[in-house]
Amino acid sequence: MKVTISVIKADIGSIGGHIKPSARVLDTVREFIAEYGKDLLKDYYISYTGDDIAILMTHALGCESEKIHKLAWDAFKAGTQTAKDQGLYGAGQDLLKDSFSGNVKGMGPAVAELEIEERPNEAFLFFAADKTEPGAYNLPLYLAFTDPMHCAGLLLSSSLGKGFKYTIMDVENTKGDRVIELNTPEDMYKIAALLRDNGRFVVESIHSRATRDQAASVSTTRLHNIAGKYVGKDDPVMLVRVQKDFPATGEVLSPFAIGHYVAGFMRGSHTGPLMPVKLNSPISFFDGPPIVSCAAFCVHNGKLTEAADAFDHPFWDFVRKRVSKKALEIRRQGFSGPAMLSYSELEYGGIVEIMNELDKKFVVRGEKKAKKTRK
Ligand code: 13P
Ligand code: 13P
Ligand code: MG
Ligand code: MG
Repeated sequence: MKVTISVIKADIGSIGGHIKPSARVLDTVREFIAEYGKDLLKDYYISYTGDDIAILMTHALGCESEKIHKLAWDAFKAGTQTAKDQGLYGAGQDLLKDSFSGNVKGMGPAVAELEIEERPNEAFLFFAADKTEPGAYNLPLYLAFTDPMHCAGLLLSSSLGKGFKYTIMDVENTKGDRVIELNTPEDMYKIAALLRDNGRFVVESIHSRATRDQAASVSTTRLHNIAGKYVGKDDPVMLVRVQKDFPATGEVLSPFAIGHYVAGFMRGSHTGPLMPVKLNSPISFFDGPPIVSCAAFCVHNGKLTEAADAFDHPFWDFVRKRVSKKALEIRRQGFSGPAMLSYSELEYGGIVEIMNELDKKFVVRGEKKAKKTRK
């Protein structure tokens, strides 16, 4: 049976700064989807990660369905009204366009979708990250699908051993979707050469070479490119199918134990380690650290099981402690060097103004003199 899994997420307002949505906003979104999604959806699941609300839906309408996207957009609109009524911070933050135009891509919310032929035991993972960008998934997706140090299945399963096809997007190209397809294992170094640049090249999808089935789908929205200025971080979502011809759940989770440094954190302008957190976790220290949650599901005839919280385990408590240390270490050097993003990546306009002002005051020694003698 064919089923589509769509996750659409947005920041539509948050309590006490960029921390977490209110219970009333979550209720509004949930009630809206329950009522207006009745005839469209097979099932749904509402959750939050930091200040972002994600609507995970199963249905039969395929990817980029106008009806599904509109349902989510309208639910976020209704939630925004509640956020405004409560005076929440950044009410409607990610809804960057006034009216719905057929597809939420390019309108602010992040989208990841998979249209699949459901396996008899279809297991998949839903990841949501806050205070970071889509490229935050680059390293985990590289390691989980190419590196036997994380994915033992590459050695132990002949199907996984055939490799995967990566579709990678150049998210700096705003004129259209600029993508490249590369295959593992032969293109591994080329894939690494692109994926090292998290701000520019982003994994959009991964397919099995053995079965051609899609394994992963990642949101690629760059809010900055839509709004033309800083309006919050992109806070990406991702769907990954697991087991059988795909990496096992634990193999996909394995690279998240690194707590690798990503762009985001305070004002979307810093570098911080990505902390795996429990479902429905808020944000705290220095508007961070950047976080990622993972809900594991099985889906059958479009019906979802309850979510299993993949990062709710004593092992991840230990990882969280280590990641906290990494966060404190980099924060000790404040704005210096790699702790703050490079000038070209800085999301806030303020520093651009300072630099423009200072630029006029710079002098090149000897140049004035030369001008004078010419006169
Ligand atoms: P089971 O034998 O419990 O299904 O585990 C197989 C597997 O893939 C573990 O990673
Ligand atoms: P969000 O993108 O999660 O709203 O965070 C914005 C921010 O500037 C945090 O400091
Ligand atoms: Mg916010
Ligand atoms: Mg956010």
